[in-house]
Amino acid sequence: MSIREQTITVLESLRGVWDELAVDELDHALQSAARALDDGADDELVLAAALHDIGHSPLLAAHSEAHDRVAHDWLTPRFGVRVGWLAGAHVAAKRYLAATDPAYAGALSDVSIVSLRLQGGAAVDQDLAGHPWWPDALRLRRFDDAAKDPAARGADIETVVAVAERVAAAQTTRRA
Ligand SMILES: [Fe+2]
Repeated sequence: MSIREQTITVLESLRGVWDELAVDELDHALQSAARALDDGADDELVLAAALHDIGHSPLLAAHSEAHDRVAHDWLTPRFGVRVGWLAGAHVAAKRYLAATDPAYAGALSDVSIVSLRLQGGAAVDQDLAGHPWWPDALRLRRFDDAAKDPAARGADIETVVAVAERVAAAQTTRRA
C-alpha cells in the first residue's frame, strides 16, 4: 500500500472512535493538524500532530503497548525518527505540562484528567525535557488539547495526505 493509501486508511479508521467526549478521533486528528498549520509548524510536526492518536485506531488494536508507543512504532519506519518521537512524546508532554504549568492542569478536559491519572500523573522526565525536540513536543501537546472543539475547523484529509507524502519522500531522499 502506498503512503497515500496507508495515511488515508489509518485516518479513516478513526471515524467513530471516541476517546474524548466532544469529537471523534478523526475530527480530533484533523483539528490537531489545523492547529499545527495555524501555528506555522513544519511538515513533520503537522504530521505528528495529525497522527499522534492513531494508537486508538481499531486497525492497530492488536498492539498491546500504550497508545503513544503504538503511534511511535507505526510512524517511525514510514515518516522518520522525528515524527515518531514527537507523536510518541505526547503523553509525556501532558504529564510535564501538568507538573509545570498550573493553568494547563486546570484546563484539561475531564477525560484527560482521568487518563493523566492512569498514565502516572504529573511528572517531569528530565531526559525528555532536555531533548532538542522537546519544545516541539510541547507545541504538539497544545495543538492536541485545542483539538477537542465540536465547532472548530479541521484540516481536510487531502491536506494531511499531501504533508505525509512530502515527509515520506524527504525520508527516502535522506536514506538514498
Ligand atoms: Fe490527542
